[in-house]
Amino acid sequence: MPYAHLLTERRGDVEHLTLNRPDVRNAFNDEMIAELAEWARRARDDRGIRAVVLSGAGKSFSAGADLNWMAKTVNYSEAANLDDAERASAVFAAIDTLPFPVIARVHGAALGGGSGLAAVADIVVAADDAVFGFTEVRLGILPAVISPFVLAKIGRSAARELFLTGARISAARAFALGLVHAVTPAAAIDETVQRYVDDVLAGGPSAIAAAKGLIAQVAGRTVDDARPLTARAIAAQRVSEEGQEGLRAFLDKRPPGWSPK
Ligand code: COA
Repeated sequence: MPYAHLLTERRGDVEHLTLNRPDVRNAFNDEMIAELAEWARRARDDRGIRAVVLSGAGKSFSAGADLNWMAKTVNYSEAANLDDAERASAVFAAIDTLPFPVIARVHGAALGGGSGLAAVADIVVAADDAVFGFTEVRLGILPAVISPFVLAKIGRSAARELFLTGARISAARAFALGLVHAVTPAAAIDETVQRYVDDVLAGGPSAIAAAKGLIAQVAGRTVDDARPLTARAIAAQRVSEEGQEGLRAFLDKRPPGWSPK
């Protein structure tokens, strides 16, 4: 389906999703939010997708919320303003919970919601000259809808520093905080992304989906609260068709059926 502000391309089992408003450094407005919502709705049910690579066209990954959009919300009613913010929040939640790995390829700037998009990716590969940050307070606004996702990645202490200062940080610092998983020279970014793609294609799709769901369910629970659901999760997966195939393939010394041909 053609989008005005997104590019999509399927290569094998991998969906390449590119934010495509390069003139404004892929800042997202209400239209791009609506398109991302529609894309995520379709992708969630698409059994042909085993991984997503999320990137930005042009010089930067994403400059976050479109500041023209933010400014014009002053003309909205209170209810319309809230609805608009809830739609943005829902998009971050939808990407966060997609049942396959989302790999963010970050180059240039990932600021505000751009860093928020990195936070809802499962794996973040950053060029060594990429810049991250939660700059909202410098604009008199705040990193609200992205905050639960960012806190889940970097924790309260770093969030207190970064949300309150609005400081821009390097890829190396973002790596140290757990927002980024690999830092690479800009020229090697696609190679590094491909290594992660190859890794996730080596895993069973339903096992990966279950593992992603398990992390979300276990996070924030006590061990005693988590134990019943962890036991149920492995009990279900090991008797599943995919679980049996993976175990048999190992014992038979052959690649499992889901391996790339
Ligand atoms: N919303 C709307 N427009 C934006 C934007 C945003 N978040 N970020 C950048 N733009 C626009 C600029 O206004 C400029 O428009 P112009 O060509 O009409 O002047 C264009 O994108 C290019 O920006 P520019 O600053 O010249 O590009 P750059 O490559 O030198 O720097 C950034 C890119 C992202 C580092 C810089 O634009 C920036 O700091 N933007 C603000 C990011 C931010 O604080 N986001 C938080 C949003 S809550």
